[in-house]
Amino acid sequence: MNVLVTGGAGYIGTHTCVELMEAGHEISVLDNFSNSNPEALKRVSEITGKEFPIHQVDLLDAKAVEGVFSQGSYDAVIHFAGLKAVGESVQKPLEYYMNNVTGTLVLCQAMQKHGVTRLVFSSSATVYGTAEKMPLTEDLPIAAINPYGRTKVMIEQILTDLAASSQQFSIALLRYFNPVGAHKSGRIGEDPSGIPNNLTPYISKVAVGVLPELPVFGNDYDTPDGTCIRDYIHVMDLANGHVKALEKISSTTGVNAYNLGTGVGYSVMDVIHAFEQASGVKIRYRVTDRRPGDAPVSYADATKAGNELGWKAKRTLLEMCEDLWRWQSNNANGYQSQR
Ligand code: WQD
Repeated sequence: MNVLVTGGAGYIGTHTCVELMEAGHEISVLDNFSNSNPEALKRVSEITGKEFPIHQVDLLDAKAVEGVFSQGSYDAVIHFAGLKAVGESVQKPLEYYMNNVTGTLVLCQAMQKHGVTRLVFSSSATVYGTAEKMPLTEDLPIAAINPYGRTKVMIEQILTDLAASSQQFSIALLRYFNPVGAHKSGRIGEDPSGIPNNLTPYISKVAVGVLPELPVFGNDYDTPDGTCIRDYIHVMDLANGHVKALEKISSTTGVNAYNLGTGVGYSVMDVIHAFEQASGVKIRYRVTDRRPGDAPVSYADATKAGNELGWKAKRTLLEMCEDLWRWQSNNANGYQSQR
């Protein structure tokens, strides 16, 4: 299939581009590079040995988006483009609603006009909000607790209405748990700007000496070692989930949500220890206050993706950490040295 990948220069986008091309699909990338680096796409070509069209376009520029659809004939879209920092979304809600929600509306209008009716959407487990019953299943009510999460809830509802309005649309909503790691080559990986919000890029920056120590946000939760438990999933398993979802929607109609997680929960301390084993580097950390909004435990029931997509996460936490370490130790400052 010929796939337009929005946000294709980002962390999950680049890994999915590699997986798509290795599965025989053709891709074009649309990205405004506001939170990513063109160097990442050069490395995608290096890994796959394939070139592909790149459109430096902002989804809020409807004329430019129209131009992209007029130039190409896409069989499907995988939509990653959007802002994703929970804390930042609380400070800048309008920026998040404009970029994530309005950007998606512009994209969907162009798709409808050009008869592109297959869409895989990058959603998030954050849509489950404060659900306490574990593991999380797709039939739970969705209600986020921050503007970022609410943009994902709103977009899922918009896409559900779009699919209901026309028999032609086939849409997969992929709810990611906690993506970790990097492609085995060590040439692409997560490259957050500034101080990482998430656990594993923070750990890897401590390991390479870019950051002095890891703050552990509380160890007084009701869990075996007192730290929060999450469902960490290798980014290449996540990328494979997108390929499987694409194949599924090429022969169905309607809209379906799928959890992309391993179904296994690990604590913050488990991750620190796995990373130390993978890297041979001792991670300095200090237990600090809890981070507001953190759920004690969150992990997936990924049965539906297994049954309907034929997908299952394969890689272990140790492999996630080994691949993350190879990326970070070879790219201490991410892509930034190559602007
Ligand atoms: C994991 C655990 C922290 C950093 C977030 C978003 C979610 C999704 C994935 C986009 C928690 C602890 C973290 C640190 C720490 N993103 N931690 N010190 O919060 O589960 O999910 O990323 O869709 O929307 O909410 O991931 O990596 O931020 O935190 O102790 O410096 O690590 O308290 O228990 P989270 P995370």
